Amino acid sequence: MSDQKKVGILTGGGDAPGLNPAIKGFVYRGSEVGISVVGLFDGWRGLMNPLPDVLPLDRETVRRWDRDGGTNLGSSRTNPFKQLGEDGKPQDHSAEVLENIKTLQLDAVVACGGEDTLGVAAKLSQLGVPVVGVPKTIDKDLAATDYTLGFDTALRNVSEIIERSRTPAGSHGWVQIVEVMGRHAGHLALWSGLAGQAHLILIPEYPFRYERVFRLLRDRLGEPGLSRGASQRPRYAVIVVAEGARAEDGEMVTIDDRHDPFGHVRLGGIGEVMSRKIMSETPYEARSVMLGHPQRGGTPSPVDRIMGLMFGARAAEAVASGDVGTMVSARGVAPACELSLVDIGSIAGKIQTVDIDRYYDTERYHFKRIGM
Ligand code: F6P
Repeated sequence: MSDQKKVGILTGGGDAPGLNPAIKGFVYRGSEVGISVVGLFDGWRGLMNPLPDVLPLDRETVRRWDRDGGTNLGSSRTNPFKQLGEDGKPQDHSAEVLENIKTLQLDAVVACGGEDTLGVAAKLSQLGVPVVGVPKTIDKDLAATDYTLGFDTALRNVSEIIERSRTPAGSHGWVQIVEVMGRHAGHLALWSGLAGQAHLILIPEYPFRYERVFRLLRDRLGEPGLSRGASQRPRYAVIVVAEGARAEDGEMVTIDDRHDPFGHVRLGGIGEVMSRKIMSETPYEARSVMLGHPQRGGTPSPVDRIMGLMFGARAAEAVASGDVGTMVSARGVAPACELSLVDIGSIAGKIQTVDIDRYYDTERYHFKRIGM
């Protein structure tokens, strides 16, 4: 009897740089520990009816995938436990996922994703499916791991834009608002705001007061137009605002009122709301940019390549040794990084948010101790 295992790998949720390196790491290490791999397309949709093709993955196929951003297997926000039917009502398709795993003769499924994709994996694990999870999200909000694939590249992308927003803002003398993704967690906003040396950083974990924002702008900019030649005062400010940030007396701003199959609204628009408020309630000009999906774009950073390759390889070892029902978890980030396996159920229903006491200056709306 052969010990060879056939494993399906999928990528679900928002795309993120680091997924393709993870697939490569899985296939490469898998080939050394008796695993043959097929790629399942578009997240959990790849195991639902009508059953799509699978893509056999060997070393030759994935040899160059480490350099690619996004995911070469495609992605979707499919929830097999709650897919909307034609009548608009949610239906449970988990039985067909179980059936298709048998049809494809898979010994295990490796799911690369965030809270939603891995939440599905955890439920399937309870139904007896051998699963291993690989943590991925630019939001870095998954419980039980210090690192999630995509965060470092998104941090690079956002920091660059903050940096580039200085020259237009400085030349025209306006307040530039940069709206950053991250859903209910402010990690991306906080750390990119620090790296790009934004002047104010507003995050979901600490609702802000507009009066305080205006005060901080006045402290920096003074009265516009006065003694420009002699004044050493800066003429511009950059505010990084997380898409999930809200005013103390306000709501989170959403793009529309639709929900995805996991029940999430699409956040977005707080930057524009803030820009109008600054222009109507202060003497300053303001502009806002919503960075949107290109934050997740481009080639993976070195950290995402390394972490992806390592996560993928560790997942292959977990499948080979029968340590399923688990997620690969990192303590620290490459190169000072330890990997282990945690129970995949331990991420369900939890998100990891910014530790305000440790990192956030609630008076200056900035990173603690090293603000502007
Ligand atoms: O979870 C990753 C993320 O990019 C969030 O930061 C953002 O709120 C969400 O996905 C956007 O959703 P979608 O990719 O469906 O537009």
